[in-house]
Amino acid sequence: MARWPAFCVGLPVFSMKKMVLLAVLFVISTNLVAQERFSLFVGSDIEDVRRMLTVAGLKDNDVIYDLGSGDGRIVLEAARLNLVLRGRGIEIDENLVRESNAAAKAEGYDERVQFLHQDAFDADLKDATVITMWLFPELMRLLRTKILAEATPGTRVVTRIWDLGTWKADYSEDSWPYVYMWVVPARAGGYWTWQLPFDGAQHTYSTVLEQDFQNVEGVVRVGNRRGVLEQMKLSGGQISFNLTMTVGKHSPVQHAFSGRVNGDTMEGTVSVLHKPSEKPTVLPWRAVRAKESAYFAPTGIASKPPAVP
Ligand SMILES: C[S@@+](CC[C@H](N)C(=O)[O-])C[C@H]1O[C@@H](n2cnc3c(N)ncnc32)[C@H](O)[C@@H]1O
Repeated sequence: MARWPAFCVGLPVFSMKKMVLLAVLFVISTNLVAQERFSLFVGSDIEDVRRMLTVAGLKDNDVIYDLGSGDGRIVLEAARLNLVLRGRGIEIDENLVRESNAAAKAEGYDERVQFLHQDAFDADLKDATVITMWLFPELMRLLRTKILAEATPGTRVVTRIWDLGTWKADYSEDSWPYVYMWVVPARAGGYWTWQLPFDGAQHTYSTVLEQDFQNVEGVVRVGNRRGVLEQMKLSGGQISFNLTMTVGKHSPVQHAFSGRVNGDTMEGTVSVLHKPSEKPTVLPWRAVRAKESAYFAPTGIASKPPAVP
């Protein structure tokens, strides 16, 4: 009969089949733990790091976050290129974090630049103004949701090689390896309402805006007239659009709205033109998000019943 080695004495005796099964389970469970690290460390070429940072357009007040910062090269290079900005690297490999913090200290950037041992999904993104990523594409797709939900509108997101799927880039460099850039859009979709004064009366505009990433479309109702908002543009929190429609006695009024989305308000100006021969009037414009939209309220206009033959 085969004898168990000395270190197994006292352990329950398993059959060879059970031992193989346990070994397989051990390998699977080790891999499950290893999967937290969604992609391995491979450093970006320094030329590509510089291209990414040029596309990001670094400014003094920037706070750059690299999700999956590896040996820290992107954040460190940003700190070298701009001697004022601050940076954070988020990295799941503790040794790389130690190495990156040591490099920051050696170069004298440790006041401005820190590397955290953290899963990118747990990173607090609200201070970031620039987010860089070069991870496996599926991981970047999942982080896309987090970035859109948590990053401040206007934050620039720059990736290397892979894009972010249906969130189309605001800028891309088509030479290999590709570099993409997005501006995190504000949450503009929903019901908005505002008033504008004409002929001594306040006219209420009730809108319905639909948003798909940075693309926004909208319709509006003023009194019992309805119209479409044209040329809507949203970049970060900056929004602009045009409207030509009859308001009160004026037919048609050309409006050009421009302002900023800030949570549940939009504020800016509207340039109003009643007749092409006149000079436009610029009025302050303030819209608020509403729970319901008067766009859908009954018009009170009775539709004619079909004629009985
Ligand atoms: C391809 S390297 C890129 C390193 C660096 N950003 C660059 O461009 O040189 C990806 C890095 O992401 C790290 N990583 C993978 N999954 C992560 C996660 N869930 N959270 C944080 N870091 C992660 C890896 O350990 C690796 O260092």
